[in-house]
Amino acid sequence: MNRILFVSHCPSANTESLRNAALTGIAGLNLDDVMVVAKSPLETDANDVENCDGILLGTTENFGYMAGLIKDFFERVYYPCLESKQGLPVALYIRAGEDGRGTRSSIEKILTGLRWKPISESLILRGPYNDAFEGQVAELAMTMAAGLDANIF
Ligand SMILES: Cc1cc2nc3c(=O)[nH]c(=O)nc-3n(C[C@H](O)[C@H](O)[C@H](O)COP(=O)(O)O)c2cc1C
Repeated sequence: MNRILFVSHCPSANTESLRNAALTGIAGLNLDDVMVVAKSPLETDANDVENCDGILLGTTENFGYMAGLIKDFFERVYYPCLESKQGLPVALYIRAGEDGRGTRSSIEKILTGLRWKPISESLILRGPYNDAFEGQVAELAMTMAAGLDANIF
């Protein structure tokens, strides 16, 4: 069984919709050997990371940086998982009202330190909310699920 850990910070209805789009996309693939553990960053600990085969991260950009709870998540799991999870497939989407680049670069630095393996370019969903964002997030999530199922990552 491939286990995807999906950690998303969802402070608004729009970000909840993005989260749901990811879950619906994966569920629609009907993969028998893939399961998703979806949690808020505050609920997630190092054991969740230890026990996953791929991680999908969703954050907002706040004050030019990742959401505080996502930073807290990284602070709690970084050293406990540093040795054991090198090569972990990871995908990231960022919901940003205007920019998103500060969040992307700060998270990518952490991912480089952890030696997690991005499965695709980080997705920045920038500007006024657009329903098309949901398709982009679903596609990213499905790429993770299908790739794990096919042992591509
Ligand atoms: C305190 C606060 C700070 C924010 N700072 C930024 C920022 O620096 N850059 C940016 O692009 N968006 C910023 N935003 C906008 C959020 O990224 C956006 O509201 C969030 O992703 C939720 O999206 P939604 O409005 O579509 O629900 C900020 C929002 C809040 C509440």
